[in-house]
Order: sequence, then C-alpha cells, then structure tokens
Amino acid sequence: MRKIYIRTSCPYEVIIERGGIKKCGEYISAVTKSRKAAVITDDTVQKLYADTVAGSLKDNGFECSVFAFPNGEQSKNLSTFGQILDFLCESGITRSDIIIALGGGVVGDITGFAAACYLRGVDFVQIPTTLLAQVDSSVGGKTAIDITGGKNLVGAFKQPSLVICDSDTLKTLTPENLSCGMAEVIKYGMIRDSHLFEMLENHTLENVDEIMDEIVYTCIDIKRDVVEGDEFDRGERMILNFGHTIGHAIEGWHSYTDYTHGMGVAAGMCLITDRFAPELSERLKKCVLAYNLPIGTEAPIAELLPYCSKDKKREYGNISYIVCTTVGKAEIRKSTVSEFEKAMGE
Ligand SMILES: NC(=O)c1ccc[n+]([C@@H]2O[C@H](COP(=O)([O-])OP(=O)(O)OC[C@H]3O[C@@H](n4cnc5c(N)ncnc54)[C@H](O)[C@@H]3O)[C@@H](O)[C@H]2O)c1
Ligand SMILES: [Zn+2]
Repeated sequence: MRKIYIRTSCPYEVIIERGGIKKCGEYISAVTKSRKAAVITDDTVQKLYADTVAGSLKDNGFECSVFAFPNGEQSKNLSTFGQILDFLCESGITRSDIIIALGGGVVGDITGFAAACYLRGVDFVQIPTTLLAQVDSSVGGKTAIDITGGKNLVGAFKQPSLVICDSDTLKTLTPENLSCGMAEVIKYGMIRDSHLFEMLENHTLENVDEIMDEIVYTCIDIKRDVVEGDEFDRGERMILNFGHTIGHAIEGWHSYTDYTHGMGVAAGMCLITDRFAPELSERLKKCVLAYNLPIGTEAPIAELLPYCSKDKKREYGNISYIVCTTVGKAEIRKSTVSEFEKAMGE
C-alpha cells in the first residue's frame, strides 16, 4: 500500500492499494467517528463493487445504505442531484455521518457537490473506479454538475476526507474507458514527469496494468503538488489543462457524443504540440497511438476555434493555453483570442 498526503485547507490521505476496496470499512472508520454511511454510485458500478464496499463497511460496524443512479454523464444533472439529497435525508444522514462516492468521475463530482451542500457540508470519501477518476477527478476538491447552459457550470470546492484507489477495479473497465484515462496520464508525463512518459513509451494499452500502481501514484503526486500550490484554481492549476482548450472544442464540435473527453484531450495535446513545439510531435503521437487514442481530428481547425473562445478559462478577450516545450515541462501562455486563432490557423 502507498499513501499520499494532500495538504489542502482540509488535509487528507490518498491510499493506493490493489484490493483496497475490500478494506475500505477499516480505512473509513479511521477518518470518521460516525458509524453511519451512505454510498452513492451508478448502476454499473453498483453491480460490480457495491456489495464489496457495503460488506466491508458493515464488517467494521457501519450501518450503510446505497443509492445508485443510471450511469453516464447525462445523469450529472440537477434532477439526480435532487434525488441524492432526498436519499440522504430519507436515510437519516446527519452532519456527523459520512457519504461515500463509489464510481467514476460522474459519481465523484455529483456526490462531492451533494456532500458540500447537504446540511451545509458533510464529510465524504472518494472511491474512484475509473482511471480518470483515480488520477484526476477524485483528488483536488472540484465538484460539479451540468446544467442546460454547459458542463460543470454549478459546483463547489469540497475536499474529500479520504480517497481510496484500488487499481484492480480498473480491470473491469472497457478498453475505451481505460484509453480515456490514459490520455490524462500521458498529459501528466508531458507537463511534469519525463520518467513517467518514458514508462508509458515502454508499454501499451494491453500491458499497462503491470505499471498501474506506479502510474496512479505518480499522477496523483503531480496533481497533489499542483493543487497544493493553487487549491482554488487561480493560476498554476491551469497547467493541468494541457490539451484541454482544443480538447473541449473537439468534444463540443462532436456534440459530446461519439468523442470521449480522453480522445479530445489526446487530439488536443497533439494539435497544440504540432503548432507550438513540432519537434516533440512525433514522440507524443507515438505514445498517444500506443494507447488507442487519436492524434488529430476530422474537425477543421477553423470550426474548432469558435469553441476555444467559449472556453471557461478565457478572460477579457484573452485566452490561456498550455504548451510543453520539453517532455516533462509545461508553460502557461496567454494571448488574445485573435492571436491564438492566427497561430492555430497557420
Ligand atoms: N472534479 C474534477 O476535478 C474532474 C476532473 C476531470 C473530470 N471530471 C469529470 O469526470 C467525469 C468523467 O469521469 P469518468 O470518465 O470516470 O466517467 P463516468 O463516471 O461516467 O464513468 C465512465 C463509465 O464507466 C463505468 N464504470 C466506472 N467504473 C467502472 C469499473 N471499475 N468497471 C466498469 N465500468 C466502470 C461507469 O458506470 C460509466 O458508465 C466528467 O463528468 C468530468 O466532468 C471531473
Ligand atoms: Zn481532463
């Protein structure tokens, strides 16, 4: 077992352990005095892991209720949010009890937001079961839901009390979902860690499980460092957005249907590198392809640019984007939207 200590305003530990979810009751009992828990999950993850989690909680003296909603991004909305709040109330969860998010980033985001709002804040634990959730969304304290106007537009900063990452749970993911998480992993290598990137270059999607604990540990440690320096996302945290400005645009161009977030990020990293650090393009693309991710998009650049200028990270007609000039080093660049469009269009 490995642990990472996150020193944010409310500090907490991340446990990385194969088979860790079987012991979650023991770990959770160390971060709360309560013995009453509500587990929030989705229907897919419920079938796979809810009994294991509930069983371990009960073995450790917890009374535990489980709520599952239909899996997928379309559930990350106000209606499901309301159902979760009603469930917490009906289950008699009080301010001193504990809420557990068991699932991917959708479950983590909506449950974290419910934990931030219900009774003005109840402690919660993240048990992320997708690679994306383990290396990205479960750590850092950003929670959110989607509204008609856009994704993640309503949310709160709420750090969890504990995160338990069990890489054995990733074995039941579809290859597409694993690829999607690998895009974020490649991103971490590019922005901060040439050794991680080299490890990725020496593996493929087929055998990456061999190094999964090392990957999860390294990525969370990078996220820890960035988040500790900028908990409320005012500056430095932006480097985690490498590939994302264009990635979001590609997702938007595809109406968020046939293009996953990871595919968008992978193509976004390649497109920005092609323009601003072409000497790295070949290496990056080889790695991206080894994890079955796209190195570009059929969307014409000119059609993507309007989506970029709608990006949340834009302020006062300026746009920020991240460029990696060396593997392991990223810089934040700011320019006017028109300068960015000119550079991308060339
Ligand atoms: N809060 C943050 O900082 C942050 C960061 C990045 C992404 N996000 C959010 O995360 C979400 C995407 O996360 P995601 O990709 O995990 O999506 P997800 O939660 O929808 O999970 C993807 C699919 O995998 C299934 N699944 C989950 N675990 C499984 C397992 N172990 N075995 C088999 N199937 C499993 C789910 O049921 C779902 O169908 C988006 O809503 C995004 O906005 C948040
Ligand atoms: Zn991302």
